[in-house]
Amino acid sequence: MKRIVGRHAEYKKLESNILQISQEAKAAKKKYTDVIDATVGMLHKEDGNVLKYDVVDDVLHGLSDSETYHYAPVRGTKDFTEGVFNWVFGDNAENIRKSFKYSIIPTTGGSGAISNSFYNFNDFNQKVLLPNYYWSPYQNFALEANVDLKTFLMYDELYKFNATDFKEKALELAQEQERLCVLLNDPSNNPTGLCMTKDDWKEVIATLNQVNRLGVPVILIHDIAYIDYQMKDQKYSREIFEAYLDLDEDILAIVVFSGSKTFSLYGFRVGAQIGLSKSQEIIDNFLRVGDYSVRARFSSVSQPGMNIIGKIFTHPEYKARYLKELNNATTLLKARASLFLEEAEKHDLQILPYCGGFFISVPTKNKNIFKDLVEDHVYVIAMQDIIRVAISSLCVDEIPELVRKIKKHI
Ligand SMILES: Cc1ncc(COP(=O)(O)O)c(C=O)c1O
Repeated sequence: MKRIVGRHAEYKKLESNILQISQEAKAAKKKYTDVIDATVGMLHKEDGNVLKYDVVDDVLHGLSDSETYHYAPVRGTKDFTEGVFNWVFGDNAENIRKSFKYSIIPTTGGSGAISNSFYNFNDFNQKVLLPNYYWSPYQNFALEANVDLKTFLMYDELYKFNATDFKEKALELAQEQERLCVLLNDPSNNPTGLCMTKDDWKEVIATLNQVNRLGVPVILIHDIAYIDYQMKDQKYSREIFEAYLDLDEDILAIVVFSGSKTFSLYGFRVGAQIGLSKSQEIIDNFLRVGDYSVRARFSSVSQPGMNIIGKIFTHPEYKARYLKELNNATTLLKARASLFLEEAEKHDLQILPYCGGFFISVPTKNKNIFKDLVEDHVYVIAMQDIIRVAISSLCVDEIPELVRKIKKHI
């Protein structure tokens, strides 16, 4: 047989892909009435349909032909980019503007942002440092970019963020490869539901500064996909960014925004990379390679997707409607999470501490947990020594039965 694919592509094979397992769950649901599908990272309503925001729908249907069909500018519109910046940093936006140079590059979802960042800010065969529990597509982004992953322990023995192991592994990797590229998905981590505290972030940044002072390039990729679904009040949801102010001058932080999660625009493929640094030269480089990769890899980003987001951020009446609907969405998630926690306590089921987001994780020693649960008509995502339960796609009534079945097989 001729070697039809390039050598570098020989390794490519999507394995136990989350989307594929979701398809299996959907098929099973058509066959049996008692199937529980807790696989999908899309927020669903109690009636089983995807939760779409009415204001998003209204703005979408009011777009003009040029706002829908034309090619979008590679750098997006100001309404979109500045709107995303203000939304992401909230009360800290002015402070961040004053302290940093910045640039915003629209991308095809958070995925496009992470994929481009891996590619542009590492040498081939280098490693990106991230916690030992992570969203599995990071692996695909890494291999596609010819880089690898190295993990540190997410938790200490008290199930708090393990700043000590982070520091140890960061210093080790920086010395080994003379570059440190870190990826953290916070708050409302996928898969664990962890929310790091402002002090955790201060410790992370102190380590990044320490590495930076060794003369090593330091890049922080901060994936905030689930920032809007924390269990804390919206007012406090952006306070972690106060820690950013301590970043040394020549560190590059890339904050990754996902329009899929914030606006339920999953199918539109819209997101952004926000590059921040105290050095203008670093931001110039960020923009230079970022612009290039957008054009080279996906040309530009969804025109209607960006326009919907830009309009919601710039029209006060749309924004007010969105905030109200977002509050309803988090209330829905809260109800599911509280019941899950209550039931877990009732059945003495240990779960990882949950502070927000679409997922709750349960530690397990059962290597066959995925199969055992499928036999019991329950679909979750199994990873190393945990199972990830997507409360985003469950309805409240399913939770007691789900917890009971998990406890049975765990
Ligand atoms: C942790 C995390 N980051 C980023 C994303 C990116 O999503 P998208 O590319 O749809 O914006 C997801 C989606 O599931 C996610 O779970």
